[in-house]
Amino acid sequence: DIKGFAFDLDGVIADTAKFHSQAWHQTATKVGTEWTPELQEALKGVSRMDSLEMILKAGGHENDYSLAEKEALAAEKNDNYGKLIATLTPADILPGMQAFLDELRAGGYQMALASASKNAPKILKYLGLTDYFVGIVDPATLHAGKPDPEIFARAAEVMNLPADQVAGLEDSAAGIQSINGAGELSIGIGDQLSAATVKFTDTAQVSLANLRAALGE
Ligand code: BG6
Ligand code: MG
Repeated sequence: DIKGFAFDLDGVIADTAKFHSQAWHQTATKVGTEWTPELQEALKGVSRMDSLEMILKAGGHENDYSLAEKEALAAEKNDNYGKLIATLTPADILPGMQAFLDELRAGGYQMALASASKNAPKILKYLGLTDYFVGIVDPATLHAGKPDPEIFARAAEVMNLPADQVAGLEDSAAGIQSINGAGELSIGIGDQLSAATVKFTDTAQVSLANLRAALGE
């Protein structure tokens, strides 16, 4: 039985995936990498420095920048992203997610955050959602980011639950791979997540009743 839920943030709880894409698009243009829908999708869930490496590689620029230059590019992206998220309010919670969090809390489920974003605590505060979560995995302490299972395994630890009692919610292929690798139930949101055990087309479909129906319970 599922007793806890590990949430991705960007694109699952908050409508911020578009802001990450907007800021990375600027970086891609600056380094001379063509911005494509495939690159945009592949970057979802991927840490800041890994994202930059993927953007450089996509344009064949992986050897053109020193570490210091890469750090400056990543810092500039985060500054641009920071300006975009400063406008967030509870109105930017994705459809259905406030109700789902309330439903889980009322049902006595545990909730933890498994976001790759170092901006996550700030975003939860902007959205007024901090108190729902028993813990937030700090991505700075990970050995490997998504698609590695570590972040979702850590979320289960935070909730004090074995992996088979945890469901993870994700909008990225890298995140679904991480959940599956951790031995948890993967719930994919969006239409590009063939590896997810349960799939919802958008956040508005996410509820305990729809989850039970999808699992045939
Ligand atoms: C993930 C996003 O949640 O966090 C990625 O899907 C982003 O797009 C990653 O790169 C890291 O975020 P941040 O805020 O630490 O740069
Ligand atoms: Mg996401």
